[in-house]
Amino acid sequence: MNNDLWLFGYGSLIWKADFEFVERCPANITGWARRFWQGSHDHRGTPDAPGRVVTLIDAPDEHCAGMAYRIAAPQVPTVLAHLDYREKNGYDRVETNTTLSDGRTVSALIYIANPDNFAHLGDADEQTIAQQIHTSNGPSGANRDYLIELHHALIELGAVDNHVARLFELVDLMGQNQQLPGS
Ligand code: SIN
Repeated sequence: MNNDLWLFGYGSLIWKADFEFVERCPANITGWARRFWQGSHDHRGTPDAPGRVVTLIDAPDEHCAGMAYRIAAPQVPTVLAHLDYREKNGYDRVETNTTLSDGRTVSALIYIANPDNFAHLGDADEQTIAQQIHTSNGPSGANRDYLIELHHALIELGAVDNHVARLFELVDLMGQNQQLPGS
């Protein structure tokens, strides 16, 4: 129990937990904001046409909602090897204080893509980000499905994330416009 590891997921790790864990709990971290600023060459895009996925940026006073998982000590090496591979496109492991929805505070591992990583795309206007998400595809599927899954996972958590909600609206609109006859 003492050597168990807490992991905090704020992107695909909220809804796609493809690893062994013994406990899962909605959670929050402070001082970080979620942004679609990281390029995806391996999951939701390709090296020639990267998609956009989320990372965290420094944002004092802001809170970021996600899901925390407790991984039993014996499983930690296997799970970390799996996650390091899954998050290999520019993410590093960082520890951060995490507040679980039941009031506990734990130190949890997060995967963050820092601005100096090779796949970092950074900020752009919402329309540009939405357009890139709307058109990108990779081995893990359509980039817009990543956004849709994230948006719905956050709603299920009762979390408000204006950046994600706004991009969801824009990409949804782009999909509707595409379906209009003659468009
Ligand atoms: C995370 O989900 O915590 C990291 C980013 C991602 O894999 O989408």
